[in-house]
Amino acid sequence: MDILFCTSEAYPLIKTGGLADVSGSLPAALAQLGHDVRLALPAYPAAVERAGTLHEVSRLRLNGSDSPVRLLRGSLPGGRTPVYLIDAPAFFNRPGNPYLQPDGRDWPDNAARFALFSRACAALGLGVGDRDWRAQVLHCNDWQTGLVPALLSRQSPRPATLFSIHNLAYQGLFPASTFQALNLPDALWSIDGLEFHNQLSFIKGGIANADHVTTVSPTYAREIREESFGYGLEGLLRHRSEQLSGILNGVDLEHWNPATDPLIARRYDMHNLQHKLFNKYTLQRDHALPVSSQPFLLGYIGRLVAQKGVDLLLDIIDQLARQPIQLVVLGSGERRLEQQVLAAATRHPRQVAVSIGYDERLAHRIEAGSDALLMPSRYEPCGLNQMYSQLYGTVPIARRTGGLCDTIVDYNQTTLDSRTATGLCFDDDSAQALLATCLGALRLYREHRVDWWKLVIAGMQQDFSWTQSAARYSALYQSLVRGETPRIGSAPASRPTKPAFDDSRHAGQPIH
Ligand code: ADP
Ligand code: GLC
Repeated sequence: MDILFCTSEAYPLIKTGGLADVSGSLPAALAQLGHDVRLALPAYPAAVERAGTLHEVSRLRLNGSDSPVRLLRGSLPGGRTPVYLIDAPAFFNRPGNPYLQPDGRDWPDNAARFALFSRACAALGLGVGDRDWRAQVLHCNDWQTGLVPALLSRQSPRPATLFSIHNLAYQGLFPASTFQALNLPDALWSIDGLEFHNQLSFIKGGIANADHVTTVSPTYAREIREESFGYGLEGLLRHRSEQLSGILNGVDLEHWNPATDPLIARRYDMHNLQHKLFNKYTLQRDHALPVSSQPFLLGYIGRLVAQKGVDLLLDIIDQLARQPIQLVVLGSGERRLEQQVLAAATRHPRQVAVSIGYDERLAHRIEAGSDALLMPSRYEPCGLNQMYSQLYGTVPIARRTGGLCDTIVDYNQTTLDSRTATGLCFDDDSAQALLATCLGALRLYREHRVDWWKLVIAGMQQDFSWTQSAARYSALYQSLVRGETPRIGSAPASRPTKPAFDDSRHAGQPIH
């Protein structure tokens, strides 16, 4: 089958988080099943630089851009997955983070940028961009591509559309006037279209209009139907229950495998775990921490934002520092949180080390060198680090939410006896719960080493490959193309007199 995978980031072209990991690895897993999967991505400078030799496929005249938009074709490094880059320099020729200005604020024209990207993807989907190739399915991801299913819903014939939610909290919300400025079809301004409490919602375009909606774990697929996780979209998501499912993310084992990882100090597997200790020493040395096997080394890698529960960690750092514990943090995000973790490192220079910024190599080294990895997330659509950590023999300490529930087997006597336990989980969204779990892990690590090793080994034996999940996507694409799932809006939308769902209770909640 021919699939266009529309995404705003893909490793190793450009990455801010897990979406890039998924976009960089799922297409290859689908290709192994015989599909022709191609990525569509904005032509950011980093992507242009890394996508190999580029050929101009066509020039598109698109609403929103005064000059023609060039469609370039390259591939992911290694040449496996073809990539279409949407080249509109006024919109995408900006170095650095794809969504943020150097001062950390959103680019003011993000609506125009991702509307143009979505229009280019829709054009490609209709066979306008590349005369030699036409997708049967457009697989769209997150709000940046939310307009694609909405734009295509008004076309007939059209390819099937799948919209994957990687993070419901980021919705692409803009003032109503932006809808006018973007020159979008009037019919899309409705409660069944793009309107959300008199604002323009990009993500709603995907959720309301795609033929099917997935999210990246089965638990998160259930959670987002509830008010506490739905950010006001739970009504719509419940309304679409029949076409909403969760497919767990997989791991790219070419990049995340301690036995072959070129970025770590010494490679290892479960048969020579003493080499993992060498990685711990290296991590300690590189961070000017005392080099010793004794302290319990905790790692944290991730965006420093409320989602990840960093504030819970900040609340307990001083208490952790009274224990034989070391902590290595890598992340960037909210300035206030960055400053607070840096201050903790200044208070505890022999125990806490912090790197602010994005560093792929260090992320691998923390996975390899830590004894345990902290993920106290408030919500977690899937989460990848807890899977990487298990494969690296690093035990996750995580809050029981979203994909963390689906990928970690919590330690208790039963799971220990059956050698299935792979991590330690807690329920409460509280610093005390995190502290208690960390102290429990410390006890296990220091006083019950045999049990600790059982967790380590069980984690390293997990199958987090894409095999099963890619097969699920494949089956889903096939059912969409066969029309087994009814197409939404395959004819021009008629305006319902009554909204099909009610999201009226949720005006004004804070969303990113
Ligand atoms: P999210 O997508 O919500 O940020 P995930 O756990 O799904 O969380 O994926 C995060 C990905 O980004 C992982 O590959 C992780 O290693 C990586 N990552 C996050 N922050 C950093 C950082 N500061 N430096 C390097 N890699 C990072
Ligand atoms: C999002 C989520 C994360 C998920 C990733 C990839 O950024 O926050 O939980 O793993 O997308 O799907």
